[in-house]
Amino acid sequence: MNNYIHNRIKSRLNRRNGFPSPTGIAGSILTLGALTLSIFSMAIFSMAFTRQDRMNTIPTEVRAKSQKAAGTFMATLKGVLVQSMAQGIPAAAATCSDTAQTLTKTIASAHGVEMRRISLNARNSQNIPTAQEKALLLKLDSVRLAGRLTDSTVVWEIIERQGKQYALHIKPIVLNNALCLQCHGKDADIAPETRTVLDKRYPGDKARGYSIGEIRGAVSVMTALVP
Ligand code: HEC
Repeated sequence: MNNYIHNRIKSRLNRRNGFPSPTGIAGSILTLGALTLSIFSMAIFSMAFTRQDRMNTIPTEVRAKSQKAAGTFMATLKGVLVQSMAQGIPAAAATCSDTAQTLTKTIASAHGVEMRRISLNARNSQNIPTAQEKALLLKLDSVRLAGRLTDSTVVWEIIERQGKQYALHIKPIVLNNALCLQCHGKDADIAPETRTVLDKRYPGDKARGYSIGEIRGAVSVMTALVP
């Protein structure tokens, strides 16, 4: 009897102090666990969903506009490079250095986009990627290391700048030609005269030491979602 009363008082006290019984605790932990798990999986599900949805919200015209700008730019730049290489590599390096930036801006404004070349080892400091672009370049490198990079690999993101939304289009530039090594390869690949031009224009140049098949950088195109 005494024991019975004692237990009743104890359990009342416990309740008053907010201590649930041991079975109550186990139940609460289970419920809490289940709840956390479901919230967590819902969050993951909605993250994947939102991402997919957002990608699908990039209108076809915006995609086409970005791709056309990037394609025209790369073809034009290659033309300039090949043409100037006829005058020798050191001269071509100087030409590339003089024209690459202006050519990018001219073609970008003709297409109504913002565009530049970016690289994790940028030769020109204007080509240093933003934090967001850097993450995407690192992602592309891991795609390449996994052997999944193809000619059509591109990355699309929706980004916001000063309250405006843009489609960010990142198209990798793979060093797939021995020509490139004459200005981006190892010391032995680069002629001393070319090295002199590069050293003068880009002190602390990071864009060397590459091998064929590596990602040299990317074309980054930003197109407004709402014109
Ligand atoms: C004649 C020398 C020369 C050759 C050949 C050359 N490049 Fe470059 N490259 C340059 C110079 C100079 C720059 C810096 C341009 C600037 O100031 O924006 C540059 C910059 C770049 C950039 C921009 C990122 C950065 O480092 O600033 C990429 C990407 C690039 N080159 C890729 C290539 C690829 C791919 C090839 C082969 C098809 C190639 N280059 C061949 C001289 C060359």
